[in-house]
Amino acid sequence: MLSTLLHGLALSYAVTLCLVGAQLALPNPPYMPPDASNGARQSSGRLQPNPQWSNVLGNSLYFYEAQRSGNISSSTRVSWRNSSTVNDGKDVGFDLSGGYFDAGDYIKATFPLSAALMSICWGATDYGKAYDLTKQTAYLDDMLRWGLDWLMKAHPSENTLYVLVGNTDLDDAYWGGDQNIPPLRTSYQINNTNPGTDAAAGASAAFSACSSLYSNKGFGGPFSSPASLQNSSYAEKLLTHAQQLYSFAVNATGGQKTYQTSVPSIAASYGSSSYTDELTLAALLLSWATNSTSLFHDAEDYYQSFKLAGQNGVFNWDSKTPGLAVLFAQMTQSSSNLGGNLATWQDEAERYFDRIVNNQGPAHMTKGGLLYYDGDSDDASLNPALNAAMLLTRYAPLATTPDKKASYLKFARSQLDYVLGNNPMHVPYIVGSHPNSPANPHSAMASGGNDINNIDTSPEQEAYVLYGAVIGGPDKRDRYFDIRSDWPETEVALDYNAPMLTLAAMHVLNGTDDPFFTSLEVGAYEKVRPKGQPCDAAFHNACAGPQLSTDGKIAMGIIITVVGLFITGLLVWYIQVLMGGKTT
Ligand SMILES: *[C@@H]1O[C@H](CO)[C@@H](O)[C@H](O)[C@H]1NC(C)=O
Ligand SMILES: *[C@@H]1O[C@H](CO)[C@@H](O)[C@H](O)[C@H]1NC(C)=O
Ligand SMILES: *[C@@H]1O[C@H](CO)[C@@H](O)[C@H](O)[C@H]1NC(C)=O
Ligand SMILES: *[C@@H]1O[C@H](CO)[C@@H](O)[C@H](O)[C@H]1NC(C)=O
Ligand SMILES: *[C@@H]1O[C@H](CO)[C@@H](O)[C@H](O)[C@H]1NC(C)=O
Ligand SMILES: *[C@@H]1O[C@H](CO)[C@@H](O)[C@H](O)[C@H]1NC(C)=O
Ligand SMILES: *[C@@H]1O[C@H](CO)[C@@H](O)[C@H](O)[C@H]1NC(C)=O
Repeated sequence: MLSTLLHGLALSYAVTLCLVGAQLALPNPPYMPPDASNGARQSSGRLQPNPQWSNVLGNSLYFYEAQRSGNISSSTRVSWRNSSTVNDGKDVGFDLSGGYFDAGDYIKATFPLSAALMSICWGATDYGKAYDLTKQTAYLDDMLRWGLDWLMKAHPSENTLYVLVGNTDLDDAYWGGDQNIPPLRTSYQINNTNPGTDAAAGASAAFSACSSLYSNKGFGGPFSSPASLQNSSYAEKLLTHAQQLYSFAVNATGGQKTYQTSVPSIAASYGSSSYTDELTLAALLLSWATNSTSLFHDAEDYYQSFKLAGQNGVFNWDSKTPGLAVLFAQMTQSSSNLGGNLATWQDEAERYFDRIVNNQGPAHMTKGGLLYYDGDSDDASLNPALNAAMLLTRYAPLATTPDKKASYLKFARSQLDYVLGNNPMHVPYIVGSHPNSPANPHSAMASGGNDINNIDTSPEQEAYVLYGAVIGGPDKRDRYFDIRSDWPETEVALDYNAPMLTLAAMHVLNGTDDPFFTSLEVGAYEKVRPKGQPCDAAFHNACAGPQLSTDGKIAMGIIITVVGLFITGLLVWYIQVLMGGKTT
């Protein structure tokens, strides 16, 4: 009797284990983003998890589902999406269907995809309980596998990685739905003779970060446990790709170089500024995934020899250096056997963060309070600020003093609040999150239009709500115009959403307060909506330096006229005096 009972228990335990290990079953009924009007409701009571933050997390993941490429016939919550581009890779004899469309158009770009996957897996490692609490873990698993399974297909042999699929010429000229995408799509690769150190190392870093997540390998200490999607066979598979790609990056016979040297077609959209950050990151994340002291030392050596210390630039899909010190610090505090020195990495991280929170450049604050990097922020102002907020919040519990910790958290919160509506436009810059949210994201598939000469007005209203999409963001004067063709302000992209997932997860775990947008007055944007056009690349009108408003220009004109008249008057008087004439 007892043995039968025990046997039964063991059996059900085994079944449970097995279910836990398999690709997770999606919730039934599914999570669907609520109508935008829901974002204007303040939560009553102190619910944990906070339902509004849960929606920010759920919607941010939902965005990726809308970006799916390939055969989606049996797997989508996004009713207005269709299967597409199922023949990708045919030109090179491989199946490169699947994966994600990069942004508002239909290319598939490996380098920014890798950056997004790395960032999401890192966040789901540190704040994983948030995905569990909000019942989003199965969607996270689904989202990651859709990307990682494709990335594995894009890496069909040790020294080959496809870095771009699409037709850059045709795609630039195509604006329309997902059923008429021009079928002539080209697959571009890097390989042993024509390598790309950054793209190979970037993909390796994504595989390593996600392998650690799927192995349930967290940093402990102040961090949460990883999201519960452990699957050791999948983790192993990912790790094999990570190792091969790292070797490819280090040892390609063609040498170490940026990938656009080998694939010039990518240069205009996603050229990389350097491969040193990706190579260091790949070594570091692989050392963590494999518990390798020697790889950890290699990463430290790279950091030295590439002179990555002391840099103060942006953190984004291209520039990952600022994340390195944070990761080094996390690993060092977690695992003494790796041999790192925590104080060294705290110094390095805090030198970088202190400049940000004390406004010491190179970034500056917009009048409305957004952290802005001239150049990097010009084509997508929110991403650098959100990434800084993500790094600051994650690092804060490792700070050396309570004051630093508090100032990092405060600054990070200010940036997140700005993005969620605490800005001069009163707009939360996530599509579908509130009635004031952007109505015209630059997304060919969501727009419902197919007239490339009339993107803004055909149709008048965006056909589909692209719930959860973080858009490019306002200009450096905090102005947001909500014009569909204005891609620097309104485009969506895989890498724009990545830090929002991690920040939402942090806030799900940290408290019961609502995100900022619930306190916004509905309709406040329409009262302040700017007229005319922004100064940005979409309008070939990149106004340089600090701007004068129209009023300012008029005032300046008056001053110049007055001064001019005064000087003319003086001259006339002087000439008369010189000529000996007398005024009457
Ligand atoms: C893990 O994932 C693989 C797919 O990659 C799946 O076939 C398997 O059932 C999952 N579960 C376990 C326990 O490996
Ligand atoms: C898409 O997948 C479904 C099964 O999920 C299959 O029936 C269908 O034939 C596939 N379509 C294409 C174009 O591959
Ligand atoms: C998907 O197909 C339907 C039916 O043809 C169409 O109405 C819809 O616009 C398509 N979706 C996209 C994103 O093009
Ligand atoms: C290697 O990559 C380069 C650049 O994409 C390409 O031109 C070349 O054909 C590739 N080599 C092979 C053997 O496919
Ligand atoms: C690169 O090649 C050298 C020489 O064959 C080898 O010792 C080293 O392990 C390789 N590095 C990687 C990361 O594979
Ligand atoms: C990592 O390796 C060290 C020895 O280098 C060992 O002491 C430690 O237990 C290992 N940790 C894990 C998680 O495997
Ligand atoms: C968590 O909440 C506490 C109390 O509201 C706040 O002081 C702290 O800054 C928050 N932490 C993060 C990571 O936002």
